[in-house]
Amino acid sequence: MAEGLYIQLFSVHGLIRGNSPELGRDADTGGQVKYVLELARALAARDDVGRVDLVTRLIKDRNFSSDYAEPVEELSDKARIIRIQCGGRKYMRKELLWPHLDEFVDKTLKFIKQQGRIPDVFHGHYADAGYVARELATIFGVPFIFTGHSMGRHKLEKLMAEGMSREEIDRRYHIERRIEVEERVIRDADAIITSTTHEIERQYGLYDNFSAGSFHVIPPGIDTDTFYPYYNAQLDHDAEDESIRQARVLLLRELSRFWVAPEKPFILALCRPDQRKNISGLIRAYGESPELKAIANLAIFAGIRKDISSMEDNERQVLTEMLLLMDRYDLYGRMAIPKKHDFSTEVPELYRLCADKRGVFVNPALVEPFGLTIIEASSCGLPIVATKEGGPVDIVNNCDNGILVDPTSDAEIADACRRILVDQELWERYSHNGINGVRAHYSWSAHCNRTMEVIRKVLEEPSSRVDRDGDETLPVGRRLTGVDRLMITDVDNTLVGDEPSLARLLEILEAGRARLAWGVATGRNLNRTLGVLAEHGVPLPDFIIAAVGTEIYYGPDLIPDRGWQRHLERHWKEDVVREVLSGLDFLYPQHDEDQSRYKISYLMEDDPELIARVHQALQERKLRYNLVFSNGQFLDILPFRASKGKAVRYLSYKWEIPLPRIMVCGDSGNDAEMLRGDTCGLVVGNYSHELDGLRGLRRLRFSRGKYAAGIIDGLEFYRFVE
Ligand code: GLC
Ligand code: MG
Repeated sequence: MAEGLYIQLFSVHGLIRGNSPELGRDADTGGQVKYVLELARALAARDDVGRVDLVTRLIKDRNFSSDYAEPVEELSDKARIIRIQCGGRKYMRKELLWPHLDEFVDKTLKFIKQQGRIPDVFHGHYADAGYVARELATIFGVPFIFTGHSMGRHKLEKLMAEGMSREEIDRRYHIERRIEVEERVIRDADAIITSTTHEIERQYGLYDNFSAGSFHVIPPGIDTDTFYPYYNAQLDHDAEDESIRQARVLLLRELSRFWVAPEKPFILALCRPDQRKNISGLIRAYGESPELKAIANLAIFAGIRKDISSMEDNERQVLTEMLLLMDRYDLYGRMAIPKKHDFSTEVPELYRLCADKRGVFVNPALVEPFGLTIIEASSCGLPIVATKEGGPVDIVNNCDNGILVDPTSDAEIADACRRILVDQELWERYSHNGINGVRAHYSWSAHCNRTMEVIRKVLEEPSSRVDRDGDETLPVGRRLTGVDRLMITDVDNTLVGDEPSLARLLEILEAGRARLAWGVATGRNLNRTLGVLAEHGVPLPDFIIAAVGTEIYYGPDLIPDRGWQRHLERHWKEDVVREVLSGLDFLYPQHDEDQSRYKISYLMEDDPELIARVHQALQERKLRYNLVFSNGQFLDILPFRASKGKAVRYLSYKWEIPLPRIMVCGDSGNDAEMLRGDTCGLVVGNYSHELDGLRGLRRLRFSRGKYAAGIIDGLEFYRFVE
């Protein structure tokens, strides 16, 4: 990998590709897709950046292009799209992805391990990716930054204002989950990037953790090569010349169908047919002003339409109103409302055509969160009239490229247009300022300069971590991707039992730690495990598999493995199991502290007949579970995917450490399952008779050494240590 920073961007939802991105493919593939693609390319173009991965969901679905099923797509020599599968392969709308994000995290972690380099920073786009970035940041001890694009509380507010109930909104959009994640991300992100100041106040301002957020306004860039100035039309764009020329011919032909005097300047609006865009305000402003009607035409590009009567409510209303107003003010011959425009090739040329004719671009929206079209129009040299509600305020402050208006005042809109159209000097000034201002403030290279400043600042913050003894510790991700073998041992009667050999084992583990990480796997819950380790002076291991494999924790911070939790949920009906078993009078529930969501535990007599009755009761109800009986008295009912052995296999999978490089040690019945298979098994000399049945298995050593001495023997036998 090249010198420079390694940055991972996340935009989980998918349907992102480098070649002709399908913007508008679904409700969620719009601005954000374009944003992350351009950001990835622009960051990778810098000398101080070595590699940029844009990580998104892999989709293999016959309703979608096979491009989205490619695990890796090169975007440029240092940027690529990485596609990670989660929640199956079928396309899913973003609101349904929440339960699958832990799988996404796990698989990204594996990918990182395979790369052999940990990213310097994670950058999440939208709440779901914020979740992913935050998880990975914790695991690897790396900073993360966040760009919301849009925020849940704001959406909730909007939908409620439209009359939808909170329950309905949650049912459709899982908005409570989203908001909860956003709160945590705002609190923990090392930096939050917004496009406008308006966004900070209006969107993030609604959150409890608002004041804990560290905000930076960095507007996105636009592609200034595409939106070049109108007077450059003939220069250096050879390859595109033909398609651009055609676009212009097409536009002129289309517009002249509407206008009787096509040589006049025109007032241009371009937006989705949405009530909030206030197209009707602009038509009224024009229709009411005899002077405007005399000096300019009007052109409104409001999306592609075929049959207005079959469009959805909001769009239909807007378009119908547009036609009615055109009729009311008798704007035939003056007002153009073309049926279709193609976003990629024609729009820049439309701006340039309008600028050539000394026209003006108007965005009269009631609120405009950002104002991308304004920036693009300005980049081509078109003066603007824009709403003073939202993002345009920043734009006009930065560039001095036009006039801000109150969108609810038709007269103000009309007057601003008129002033620019009649004053050549003013027109030239706004045009010139727009072209230069956009390049200074809204190019991707300007955006990246500022983003890199933020990243550098974040990286400077000290991130050193110390353990109980004051030694520096590594975050789990760095630790576990840095070793190539694991030792996992049961606690009672295996790790502990003989103090002198335990002390020697701990020394050996410490000496071998560069390549070897270790952990325990026990029936005890986390608290009781910590208790026994402390009692025997054992420092915290790299990981703890607790509660018979139903819980995994990492490192000094005891970070729970959420991927594992999520994995256990499948087919698990805790309440039903408890209810069924409460009917069996030979079962005595264990202490409350030994019960958990995924572990239902009893004491019982050692009698195969009784165990058969437990199975029978559970199977009658068609429940899926895993039954573990141990030490002649403990009964644990767990999710069918849970056990100490399965937890070991999950660690192997997640951290990409093959089973033959994992040594597993135990002494009794509840270790049997994890001792079988491809791992290097070790039974200590003081084992209990239930394990006799395992004698003769491949890769399973019955040591003469008792307790920790047996473990040491195993480490030497399997050459896990020198
Ligand atoms: C530990 C746990 C207990 C469990 C047993 C067997 O003793 O505390 O809850 O049933 O291990 O797994
Ligand atoms: Mg034991």
